[in-house]
Amino acid sequence: MSIYSRIAGTGSYLPEKVLSNHDLEKMVETSDQWIQERTGIKKRHIAEAGQTTCDLAEQAAARALKAAGKTAQEIDLIVVATTTPDKIFPSTACLLQQRLGNHGCAAFDIQAVCTGFVYAMGVADKFIKTGAARTALVVGAETLSRILDWNDRGTCILFGDGAGAVVLEAADKPGILSTHLHADGAYEELLHVPGGISRGFDMEADGADPHFMQMKGNEVFKMAVNTLGRIVDETLAANGMKKSDIDWLVPHQANIRIIKATARKLSMDMDNVVVTIGEHGNTSAASVPLALDTAVKDGRIKRGETLLLEAFGGGFTWGSVLLNY
Ligand code: UT7
Repeated sequence: MSIYSRIAGTGSYLPEKVLSNHDLEKMVETSDQWIQERTGIKKRHIAEAGQTTCDLAEQAAARALKAAGKTAQEIDLIVVATTTPDKIFPSTACLLQQRLGNHGCAAFDIQAVCTGFVYAMGVADKFIKTGAARTALVVGAETLSRILDWNDRGTCILFGDGAGAVVLEAADKPGILSTHLHADGAYEELLHVPGGISRGFDMEADGADPHFMQMKGNEVFKMAVNTLGRIVDETLAANGMKKSDIDWLVPHQANIRIIKATARKLSMDMDNVVVTIGEHGNTSAASVPLALDTAVKDGRIKRGETLLLEAFGGGFTWGSVLLNY
């Protein structure tokens, strides 16, 4: 008999500190009106000094475990998607495992920037399908605020901090119907943090600080819209499904205009699209599980419904997860 993975529970966590568009007006030349019209963002949450990605992940994971009715000891795989790990090593997944009091299960991080959670779901699903794991904790957690140039209005208004998690368990029917993961490294320089451990942190030739994110927003925007349109088609075709078979679109929360374009592609009413960007901006790998948990907890997403999760991010990376909740 085939093994599938299904979502047993979801959880999320946002740090308490809130940064509004009006706060940003005092930091860079921007306006609440511009940010809302061009992105849909009203505010974002920012981790306190000393509050780390693992701190956020721990809260989200504890909530997901509670919702799933599972103990940390039952987990046999931990995958954390993050671009902002606490340390160079150990992985944030190992740090999280220690916090949860689990000893011995496989634990590792995945780095696919904003598509990280979708990648992590793809990997965890395959562990469960092959019988290598029965209960997986999949987390997307970020403190993106730490890699932002707070003088660059093209990026600092977009991002926020947060964490989301799901517990996947083995089941005899889906659950996850398919996952689709892609990357094209040729677009490295449209969205990147130039510095790194191996390359070093020497100043860029143009004087830009290599510690911080650089983005050619407009070019990324166009690529995101086209690519997400294609992944929707690919996912439906792989499952022999029609647009109308999807109950909920749970998209990466990068820009309300990108989300609306993907919904149009699916001929989907915005009432069936989970939109949380207004409340927490783009939280990179945390954004899809944060949106998912929000709509599960407020009762919009119900058991038995069909969900399309999708994301696009630095790399470029992109992907989708189609599942019966
Ligand atoms: O998470 C994964 C990947 N990331 C994304 O998907 C982000 C994709 N990109 C975007 O969401 C949008 O491109 C942005 C929101 C970043 C920018 O919106 P846009 O409509 O593409 O604006 P633009 O970059 O073409 O800039 C239009 C104007 C420019 O002024 P001029 O040259 O027309 O005078 C910018 O300098 O808006 C200006 N501008 C701003 N004005 C006020 C750029 N940022 C701001 C700002 N406040 N924060």
